[in-house]
Amino acid sequence: MTITLAPPRAARVARTAPATSTPGPLDVLGVPGQINLDYAATAPCARAAADAVAELLPWYASVHRGAGALSRRCTLAYERARQTLGDFFGARADDHVVFTRNTTDALNLLARALPAGTTVVTFGGEHHANLLPWPRGSVRLPVPDSPDGAVRALDAALTELRRGGTAGGHRPPVLVAVTGAGNVTGECWPVAALARVARRHGARIAVDAAQLAPHAPVDVTALDVDYLAVSGHKLYAPFGTGLLVGRADWLDAAPPYLAGGGATSHVGAATHDVRWATGPARHEAGTPNLLGAVALAAVCAAFAEADRVALHRAEQTLLARLRDGLAALPHAVELRAFGPSAPRVGIVSFVVAGRESAQVAAGLARDHAIGVRDGLFCAHPLARRLLAEAAARSGRRDLPATALRASIGLGSTAEHVDRLLAALGDLG
Ligand SMILES: Cc1ncc(COP(=O)(O)O)c(C=O)c1O
Repeated sequence: MTITLAPPRAARVARTAPATSTPGPLDVLGVPGQINLDYAATAPCARAAADAVAELLPWYASVHRGAGALSRRCTLAYERARQTLGDFFGARADDHVVFTRNTTDALNLLARALPAGTTVVTFGGEHHANLLPWPRGSVRLPVPDSPDGAVRALDAALTELRRGGTAGGHRPPVLVAVTGAGNVTGECWPVAALARVARRHGARIAVDAAQLAPHAPVDVTALDVDYLAVSGHKLYAPFGTGLLVGRADWLDAAPPYLAGGGATSHVGAATHDVRWATGPARHEAGTPNLLGAVALAAVCAAFAEADRVALHRAEQTLLARLRDGLAALPHAVELRAFGPSAPRVGIVSFVVAGRESAQVAAGLARDHAIGVRDGLFCAHPLARRLLAEAAARSGRRDLPATALRASIGLGSTAEHVDRLLAALGDLG
């Protein structure tokens, strides 16, 4: 099927409320008339990020590579950003805070840093970024039907792994890799409880916080998790910056993620006469993304100052409006793994019975200037399973093979939600 991209029909769109309800640095930028309900893919840019970039642009110069005043300022800004982000995510004194391109990059880096023989345990509910990087022999647990079920399943799997015994008297490491909030359903995973289970079994745990961090505080110390991965572009900062925060030992012992300038402490004349740096620099070869780092730090600093309880409450009110509105539409069916009242962030996936999701999404864009996502959301095993479950729950045989996803955050309004619901209602 060919989708023709028509220019936005601004004239048809009544003026929406300003795209922000939170004045100040957590205002988000946007285009008047366009209703963005696709934050889970990429969130709009926050004012704090735009301002931080604008302020630094005149100083634009090398990072870690120059003695000039501009360069020194840029190096300082980069390292301050690292510090701010480490503090924001509760990094321990001996953790590394490594800049990456995004969550996918961060988890691939961690996969490359695993000690030989590590078994990785994940659930089938993960985004591909937290399914595909792991080595052969990884254990993929079935998608549980409740947060408690996830905890029980992990406990059982780790017990079983331990029973598997030791390799030559040495117990190979185990890493549990779980999402903080799912990108298909927005459902929150019981990270702290899973971390307790992992600890009890002597395993480490990594959290894919790509979807959780934009909606809730995430603190590696408080959660007692070993690694955390996030993406700047989902956290109201520009593309191209992510983070891996976590334990230094595996990272310092691993081969550098990229080989090149900045990752070495000594390079001799012979081809392989290289001493690699330890610390974050080991995995950050090449000139870094200064503006991305500084912008992400500015957003996180603004979040640290904000009333996150109030932000959470506002988002949950909008989310309830969206979910209640969908539930009231006879032809819409929500996707979910856990029960309907399980805690979740501002993400809802659903299908419109009898309609192809790609056509619905195209129609929302063309006729209503509403942007949503359609497809299987880079979580194919989970999305397919939830589509089958939605068909069984609703008893409908006319559900499409892919889904729609609406996601909200800073700057989303009741009017945005109502416009989506009205447009979907017209499809009935
Ligand atoms: C839960 C989750 N993890 C990882 C990713 C990958 O993020 P990125 O594309 O920024 O690497 C996404 C992106 O949608 C996600 O939702």
